[in-house]
Amino acid sequence: MESARIRLRRWCEGDAEALFKYASDPEVGPRAGWPPHLSVDDSLNVINTIFSSEGIWAIILKETQEPIGSIGYIPHGFSNIPIEPNDCEIGYWVAKPYWNQGICTEALELVLDYCINTMHFDTIWSDHFVSNPASGRVLEKCGFAYTGIETRCPHLLGGDNEPIKILKFNKKQFPCKN
Ligand SMILES: CC(C)(COP(=O)(O)OP(=O)(O)OC[C@H]1O[C@@H](n2cnc3c(N)ncnc32)[C@H](O)[C@@H]1OP(=O)(O)O)[C@@H](O)C(=O)NCCC(=O)NCCS
Repeated sequence: MESARIRLRRWCEGDAEALFKYASDPEVGPRAGWPPHLSVDDSLNVINTIFSSEGIWAIILKETQEPIGSIGYIPHGFSNIPIEPNDCEIGYWVAKPYWNQGICTEALELVLDYCINTMHFDTIWSDHFVSNPASGRVLEKCGFAYTGIETRCPHLLGGDNEPIKILKFNKKQFPCKN
């Protein structure tokens, strides 16, 4: 899948160094509930386990061909929040040097199109820590709305200390309006 500035493709082992460069940043993972990567081997392990799942893509900046983030959907049974069997939850992160340039919004538009037109999910969910409004803004720009539900996800890093806000995608709002 691709758009003006990015391409989404599967992660591969050769991405481990770039992944470590960006995912070792303590400003990134903890906002999404996971610890900073500690070594290139750590990143390689994430590529071969978590990122090898169906529906997870590397965000490739076309200009440099470098992976600068990750985005994907998590199906029923693996999601952070309780969802129905034909629902999914979307998660993402972008490397800090590329924040606030619309990259995540561009990636989310591609994944929403895939979730709607290829996977035909009934309902698409997402969520973010209350202290992470930038993530909420990305979701709102792409047609998600707050449900008013806040919950704790103790399995997330920091999930014991802080609730997450849950949002639901409104298909009528697609495609995204920036
Ligand atoms: C959240 C994240 C993915 C956003 O990526 P991004 O590529 O910077 O997103 P975009 O540029 O498409 O959009 C960011 C929006 O948030 C806004 N924003 C940034 N900081 C903000 C803040 N503190 N409060 C409110 N809005 C904020 C930006 O202004 C922009 O909105 P705009 O286009 O209306 O101006 C990125 O910051 C990130 O990876 N953070 C760490 C990991 C993470 O939080 N993952 C999500 C877990 S739920």
